[in-house]
Amino acid sequence: MEYTLPTKIADYAVGGDGYDLDYIFSKVFEGTTCTYDDIIFMPGYINFLPDKVDLTSYFSKHIKLNIPMVSSCMDTVTEHSMAIAMAQHGGLGVVHHNCSIEVQAHEVQLVKKYRNGVILDPIILTPEHTVSDCLKYKKEYGFAGFPITENGKLGEKLLGIVASRDIDLVEDPTTKIKDVMTSENIQTVSDKMDSAEAVELLRKSKVGKLPVVDSDGNIVALMSRTDLIKNRDFPMATTDSQGRLVCAASVGTRPIDKDRAKALIEAGVDVLVVDSSQGDSCFQLEMIRWLKTNYPQIDVVGGNVVTVRQCKHLIEAGVDGIRIGMGVGSICTTQEVCAVGRGQGSAVYFLAKYCSQFGIPVIADGGIGNVGHITKALCLGASTVMMGSMLAGTEEAPGKYFYRDGVRLKKYRGMGSLEAMEHGSSQRYFSSSHASMRVAQGVVGSVVDKGSLRQYLPYLVQGVRHGFQDLGVKSMTDLNEQRKDGRLRAEVRSSSAQVEGGVHNLHSYEKRLF
Ligand code: IMP
Repeated sequence: MEYTLPTKIADYAVGGDGYDLDYIFSKVFEGTTCTYDDIIFMPGYINFLPDKVDLTSYFSKHIKLNIPMVSSCMDTVTEHSMAIAMAQHGGLGVVHHNCSIEVQAHEVQLVKKYRNGVILDPIILTPEHTVSDCLKYKKEYGFAGFPITENGKLGEKLLGIVASRDIDLVEDPTTKIKDVMTSENIQTVSDKMDSAEAVELLRKSKVGKLPVVDSDGNIVALMSRTDLIKNRDFPMATTDSQGRLVCAASVGTRPIDKDRAKALIEAGVDVLVVDSSQGDSCFQLEMIRWLKTNYPQIDVVGGNVVTVRQCKHLIEAGVDGIRIGMGVGSICTTQEVCAVGRGQGSAVYFLAKYCSQFGIPVIADGGIGNVGHITKALCLGASTVMMGSMLAGTEEAPGKYFYRDGVRLKKYRGMGSLEAMEHGSSQRYFSSSHASMRVAQGVVGSVVDKGSLRQYLPYLVQGVRHGFQDLGVKSMTDLNEQRKDGRLRAEVRSSSAQVEGGVHNLHSYEKRLF
């Protein structure tokens, strides 16, 4: 490919201000696969504060995020706690599918029910339920305060409401709800009331739950005080049109995964990620076509891919987003075992450029090891980054902490590790469940305790904002324009420049992140 200097950058002293990405990837790296550490970006002009940087971006065509960060669909990374925390901070969690359909659908439900402006499908009990049932639901969903109707259905006459204080001192768990519920003077709100007015009423009232009723006294929805508080605490949250947290989930490519997709959609999932280690297969393409034909309202992300040829097939099948990365995850042995893959920097740059012609956002998945890598992935054209090892050590990731050599750790395993495949994830790697021998493409490891995602994620976000400020880039839109017109400049780092760019020549040091 012949390289021509874009006219708009003719003013740049050649080399003095670095080079535009087309030059770097087409000329300098010609034939060499590269990744984040191989390049470094040139600073731009600062005339704004980091807090002013707008990181709004798209995960897929219709799923807009306030921060360009997503948690991996791995069984040691994303279940409901991670998905809730990611969405509350403006990102997104992709609930893994290395579990039964019922368990995964329930995880999605927990996310969708967590934060509601108005709960349109509240859990309703009957007068014949017991205190023990109530405690069970409270444990399962993490909240109490259930409306009561004759048959436990929406649209029926509201008979009462049972809250924590109605049951917490009841000694006999078999006590019927009808004997403890509050049935007199229940505060309700009319379904005709304007929502801002209803929120004001809930704010002023002392109740935890406010049933929304129609003119006949039938319950049609429920408002929750804790949701008001959550809304106030997380103004950046990624929410759907009903104010619920947005949730993604992964599915495989086997015929049974169509049942899984159906159950997830019924549970309220907003976007499905078709999860394969090599996304260019007849199985995945057929799954994408089926999903887009039967559920056109749900965004579908395909992958993983690293070439334009693979991307083209996914786009033709109708995807709304593409996941990039093969053999680059921290727990991954794909390149070593299967001899395929690509440096993540090259893959993200070329595929993002190709996909942008079709308005398809790309997700840079795997290989993110520090905040700078996130900024670099975005500079190369990714709309969002997906992270596994970076988030697996947080409290919100599944699993318990343990100590080794005095260090607090959490287990983090590849979905292609033998251990995870024995649990069901083998299909991601096209390994038949009846295969006489499974070939691992991942390892089981551990990561250091990172504390709560609620402190760690804001650190990552602020770090990216500082990166944008140094680049002189005010938003994702600005970044995309600067990359396209050649104002975004970079250089290749020699191995000694990479050493120089890290902490060096010290006897010892302590690395505190924030
Ligand atoms: P990390 O952020 O570098 O830890 O990479 C996480 C990504 O690695 C995931 O989002 C998957 O795309 C990928 N991945 C997960 N498990 C495996 C595996 O066992 N082998 C190869 N890649 C994996």
